[in-house]
Amino acid sequence: MFQISGRQLARSRGRIGLLGLRRGLSSGPEGASRGSGTPEARTRWRSPTTWLSLAATSGVASCLLYYYSVQYEERKEAVSGKRSYGTASIGGPFTLVDTSGKSVTDKDYLGKFMLIYFGFTFCPDICPDELEKISEALDLLSEPDQERIVPIMISVDPYRDTPERVKEYLKDFHPRFEGLTGDEDEIEQVAKEYRVYFSKADVTEVGDDYLMDHSIITYLIGPDGNFIEFFGKSTTPKDISVRIKSQIRKHEYDVLGSMMQTNKQATAQ
Ligand code: NI
Repeated sequence: MFQISGRQLARSRGRIGLLGLRRGLSSGPEGASRGSGTPEARTRWRSPTTWLSLAATSGVASCLLYYYSVQYEERKEAVSGKRSYGTASIGGPFTLVDTSGKSVTDKDYLGKFMLIYFGFTFCPDICPDELEKISEALDLLSEPDQERIVPIMISVDPYRDTPERVKEYLKDFHPRFEGLTGDEDEIEQVAKEYRVYFSKADVTEVGDDYLMDHSIITYLIGPDGNFIEFFGKSTTPKDISVRIKSQIRKHEYDVLGSMMQTNKQATAQ
């Protein structure tokens, strides 16, 4: 984490460059009327950027960004009183069980991007293909970007998919994968929120030997818990990684913009 490659350094410099550009754009007549042109104000205004440049070039930028991202989302939540779920009303609160048998909710993932896939461990072909695709997409991302994402498989087969079973199954895929299962009501609830269809393929089937029909969709959820976009069966690993990367960058600029705004307000008082 603290070792930095030339490529990472170049990327960090790129970020700061863009921030500088933003700053340049925002210091128009509006800034002048507030008196930010005085040497004192200018120094104070510059300080967060200098501090950030230092952080970025010393390689701790992604940790800091994660920290501020969590703070940013918590502040937003505190201001609005409650979280608003998705413009397209996809997704929502859930309470499920992780692979260690611990109860988890959507709030546990606040500050991270979630990549959610609904499937089941007995699926013969499609689920393994999709989970492999997500794993490949993650591998195409840089280490710091991977750390911003939690890939999650939610089981649509709570009857057979115990936490232990899901844990064992996910060993074949990306090490960052988390598996969630629950009781039938909990799974039905989360599937409904994500508009995921699932049902036993053959309702006359009795016992443990059956297949599930289910939607094949991977959802990208933002650090605020809101739905961003989804990837279908035909989306390639490359496409997924490019789209995730652009969403992470967009989020970083939002967070940094908000930090600078806060700093500006603090120094103006
Ligand atoms: Ni499947």
